[in-house]
This record gives sequence, C-alpha cells and structure tokens, in this order.
Amino acid sequence: MNEHVQSARTEPLFNPLAPEFIRNPYPYYERLRTMDPMHVNAHGAFVASRHAEVSLVLRDKRFGKDYVDRTVRRYGPKIMEEPVFRSMSHWMLQQDPPDHTRLRGLVVKAFTARRVEDMRPRIQQIVNETLDRIIPLGKMDLIEDYAFRLPVTIICDMLGIPEDNRELFYKGSRDGGRILDPVPLTPKEIEAGNAANMMAAMYFHQLFELRRKQPGDDLITQLLQAEEDGQKLTNEELTANIILLFGAGHETTVNLIGNGLLALHRNPDQLALLKATPGLITNAIEEFLRYDSSVQLTGRVALEDIEDIGGKRISKGEAVLCLLGSANHDTAVYPDHPERLDITRPNVKPLSFGGGIHFCLGAQLARIEAEIAIATLLRRIPDMRLDDAENPEWRPTFVLRGLKRLPASW
Ligand code: HEM
Repeated sequence: MNEHVQSARTEPLFNPLAPEFIRNPYPYYERLRTMDPMHVNAHGAFVASRHAEVSLVLRDKRFGKDYVDRTVRRYGPKIMEEPVFRSMSHWMLQQDPPDHTRLRGLVVKAFTARRVEDMRPRIQQIVNETLDRIIPLGKMDLIEDYAFRLPVTIICDMLGIPEDNRELFYKGSRDGGRILDPVPLTPKEIEAGNAANMMAAMYFHQLFELRRKQPGDDLITQLLQAEEDGQKLTNEELTANIILLFGAGHETTVNLIGNGLLALHRNPDQLALLKATPGLITNAIEEFLRYDSSVQLTGRVALEDIEDIGGKRISKGEAVLCLLGSANHDTAVYPDHPERLDITRPNVKPLSFGGGIHFCLGAQLARIEAEIAIATLLRRIPDMRLDDAENPEWRPTFVLRGLKRLPASW
C-alpha cells in the first residue's frame, strides 16, 4: 500500500467533497475497493468502486434513473417546484425508457461516427486560430484560453448559436457542476442553480423564435420541427435537452483536455514519447480518459429488489453510485500498474463515457476534439511548460473533475 493510501486510512471512506479527495481521489478509491467495494454512504446509497459492479449496474435493466422519485426522496416533495430540478427531470440523461428512447432518438443522428469525423477540419481550424492568437503572447491559461474555447465553439456550431452571441458563452461561469454531486445542495446553491437555469431558458427561448423564422442546418432547428409535430417532444423537454447538450458538450471535454495535459506534464517520459511518436495520440486519449476521467461518477436506482450485487442485497428504490474513476483503476481489469500513465497501454476501454443505454452521446466527438487539441498543441508549442504542475487548483466539484486554471508558458 503506498503512502497516500496510508494517509487516507483514518478518514471517512467516501467523503467526495473533502479538498484532499478532490485533489487526488485515487488512494481513497483503492481503499474503497479493498475494504468495502459496495460501501453504504452517509445518505444510505451504495457506492460501487470495483469495475465488475460498476460495469454491471450501468448495463443491467433492473436499474434505471427514477429521477423524480429519487430526488423527492432526497429533498422532500416540494423539490420538483424548483425550476432547476424540474428542468433536469426532462434531460434524456435522467429518463428511463420509453421517454429516454424517444428523446435520444431525436438527436442521435447528429452524433454518429461519420458526422463527427466530418467535423475534423472545423475542429482543426478552431484550434489553429486559437493558437495563432495565443502563441505570440508566450503564456496562457490552458483551461480558459485553450481547452474551454474549442468544445464551446463546436457545441455552439451544432446548436446553431449565432456567432455574435457567443462571447456570452465564452465568458460563462463554470460554477454549475455542484448540482451533479452526490451530496445535497444547500438552499443557496439551489437558488443559484435556478437563476442559471432561468437565464439559459430565456436565451434559448429567444433563439427558438429566431430559428422558427430562420431555420438552419442545426440541432435546435431539428428539435423545433420535432416539437411542432406535437407527439415527439414537449416545449419543456426541448428547452431542458438543449441546456443538457450545451452543458454536456463542453463541461466534460474541457476537462479531458486539461486533465490530459496535466497528466502528460507530470509524466515527462510519456510527454516525450508522445512528441516523438504523434501516432500514439488516439491511444493516449483513451489512457487520459482512464487515468483521470473528467466524469467520476454516475448513479442508478434499483427498479426492483435485487438479491446480490457484489455481495449486497439492494432493495427497490435504493441508489447505487458508480465510481467510474475507481473502476478505471481496478487491478482486476488493469493488472499493469493502473496508477501509472502509460499511453501505450493496450485495450484501455475506460468506463469514463458510461455504459448501457445512456452511453455518452458525445463520446466520439469528445475524443476527436481532445485528439486535435492536444496533438496540435504539442506540435506547435513543443517547449511549453506548466507553471505549477505539482499543485494545480482543482474545481470544487466531484462528479465533474477538472482544473480551475492551468497556467503555462513557453
Ligand atoms: C470527455 C468528455 C465526456 C465525458 C467523460 C462524458 C461522460 C458521459 C457519461 C459518463 C455519460 C453517461 C451518464 C450515465 O450513464 O448516467 C454521458 C452521457 C451523455 N453525454 Fe457525455 N461525456 C463527454 C462529452 C460529451 C459531449 C461532447 C457531448 C455532446 C456534445 C455529451 C453529451 C452527452 C449526453 C447527451 C448524454 C446523455 C445520454 C443519454 O442519457 O442517453 N457528452 N456522458
């Protein structure tokens, strides 16, 4: 057992918002996998930390989202009056079939491997333009100035957000992630969530009016047509799922790029290897996803009584938190030092994009964005250094794992 695991020994087994946990959750995960792989947390939910149970729960039809019941159980019956929770209850991410199937079916075509592959030249163009502007400055914040701009621009393109509205989104706050964490929100945080949700809904309603008059070749126009059909989509579902796509389209990819660049610079041998062998980039992205996933957890609820998952009986209505980041470091699946970054690791197949019917819609898009962003950066600024690779500042959220800033110079 390494020294981090030793120091983690005396603390609660799962305390995901503790600063040490956010700084480095992996020793805590190792302790969970070894000591209590189906741990019950302070709120009565099971915490699955091994690859076997995480993978099974994500794919097993006896589990679902049951979002409204689960949220009411946690917060009380009035919670669904809060706009932010009402809106989230319509996300495809929080739905079970048949609504999930209907909502996902309306957008899935925009994310096929072929459609995303066709976006390569546009992704390369955005990355080139960003670097043209930044390189003469000699320094940047890799998060705000680089990693953030690409996925925001791409999701704006896909949704059909007009160019002259985009500054609003580039400057947008990235403080909303707490709503996904497995610890109840405070009333103040709920209020902030409501305000952000209201602002987004107001903006998108104006854009819907514009696209009704001036249809485009974009997802909003496509979903408006489905809404007008009457059967396929309600107005609330339309707004909520556009907000989901906008958030999911960038909050996670920015962190894949940021966490990947941090991991590379903390492992100079791997950085040198990737610079010398650029063809390793595709496998390197899988390894970045595994090594420090930008989504650490997703949850399910038992839809019936289940006799045995990892030695535990789970009753209908009980929640299981699936620790994706922990499953990605399980020696049962990664016997060769999972704590090490190895961009040549064979068969990586991380669980970072989930599994089963909710498998990430944007997985291929995120991979290509990160591939082009990281490969181009290494090629065009080969002598870039991180100013503080040892002690970077993490965002205070657990499910979405990413850096607040990552200053670099050259
Ligand atoms: C590194 C980047 C990304 C990661 C790690 C990630 C991770 C995930 C995970 C773990 C899920 C499944 C959650 C569950 O099973 O409960 C998911 C679902 C989803 N993701 Fe991603 N995601 C990323 C990028 C994207 C992008 C770029 C988009 C869109 C442009 C996107 C859109 C979605 C949507 C719409 C869902 C819900 C799918 C459904 O419920 O059927 N994601 N993502």
